[in-house]
Amino acid sequence: MKYLLYSVLFIAIMGCDEAAEEVNEDLLAYRSIAGLEMDIPANNPTSIQKMRLGARLFFEPLLSRDSSVSCGSCHLKKYAFSDTVAFSGGVGDKHAARNSPSLVNVGYLPHLMAEGGVKTLELQVIAPLENEDEMDLGVLEACKRLNSVPYYQDFFQRVWGDSATPFTLTRSLAAFERTIVGGSSDYDRFLTGDSAALSSNARKGMDLFFSERLSCKTCHDGPLFTNFEMQNNGLDEEYADNGLFRLSLDAKDKGKFKVPSLRNVSKTYPYMHDGRFRHLEEVIDHYSSGGQSHPNKHAAIRGFKISQEERNQLVAFLESLTDQEYQ
Ligand code: HEC
Ligand code: HEC
Repeated sequence: MKYLLYSVLFIAIMGCDEAAEEVNEDLLAYRSIAGLEMDIPANNPTSIQKMRLGARLFFEPLLSRDSSVSCGSCHLKKYAFSDTVAFSGGVGDKHAARNSPSLVNVGYLPHLMAEGGVKTLELQVIAPLENEDEMDLGVLEACKRLNSVPYYQDFFQRVWGDSATPFTLTRSLAAFERTIVGGSSDYDRFLTGDSAALSSNARKGMDLFFSERLSCKTCHDGPLFTNFEMQNNGLDEEYADNGLFRLSLDAKDKGKFKVPSLRNVSKTYPYMHDGRFRHLEEVIDHYSSGGQSHPNKHAAIRGFKISQEERNQLVAFLESLTDQEYQ
């Protein structure tokens, strides 16, 4: 379905909606990114009330076994819905097995998780709810808890004409996640004709990023700076976490991870699936060294010479991809 149509609809509904719930209204800012359309499932059309319910649920610790973590504990708004530790804390003293990715623009992704094994946001909700290192509650138990709280009984009835069920819970959260859309970075302003939006350093960094020499665009291409593929970018000779291989058991998939979007990358540290790099400079060092040897390493990871000045320029460009709300 056409995403732009939704933007218009959204503005129309926002204009006359007085019944504000206690959610951060700016989370509902719904914007489009040039050239991209969001595929919204026919059985989960967007409405303001549904997004508000989803936002409440996103920050609701009742959805974890010991009521200590919500989705928002690992996906913090101020870090572009990621966080700043390598492995975020889940229930008790458990930790997630991978680094929390940003959820900005997640509604545009054709597949989710580092293996790309989950196809929809609705289905993805089940993963953290069930995962014993994350929320460890399960979707049925989560619904039971919500249905025992009058506030949620009422809210679900108003939005769905139904109680909290696996269907209504997962769809509410997914509808909210689709509203987490970026597109307000300095780079976006530059693209739409404001040539002063990028410093000359950032502009030089942009040329470097898109150059044949650095080859970043082989994988980080398009409006979200990802081609959505699973690739091996040469982090290790032997991976502790083999990425896509865990799903396919095909040796050709060892060490392959979803190419992440680089939008808001200055806020999504630490980097890579295991958060091994704290700073963008370390990421650049990795790519300029050509990484470790691995049979599945992509040919574009071949190393390059880069001066300190160019490093700074590349970092300035990557920093220009931060949306206004996370600056
Ligand atoms: C304990 C930390 C933690 C909690 C709690 C958590 N997540 Fe995540 N989330 C992660 C990690 C880590 C990943 C990456 C998993 C992977 O790739 O295997 C992830 C991945 C995702 C993705 C996929 C993003 C992508 O780019 O593929 C979505 C969507 C998501 N989480 C939404 C949620 C929602 C909704 C909730 C609440 C129901 C939630 N998360 C709760 C840590 C967490
Ligand atoms: C062969 C494909 C490929 C090329 C070429 C490539 N990358 Fe990546 N990039 C990846 C993959 C795959 C990951 C995720 C790896 C992981 O999760 O462990 C990644 C991760 C990153 C990250 C971390 C993002 C995050 O949020 O964790 C940054 C930053 C990055 N790349 C920048 C660059 C830059 C700059 C270049 C050019 C010098 C480049 N990449 C070239 C595939 C590539």
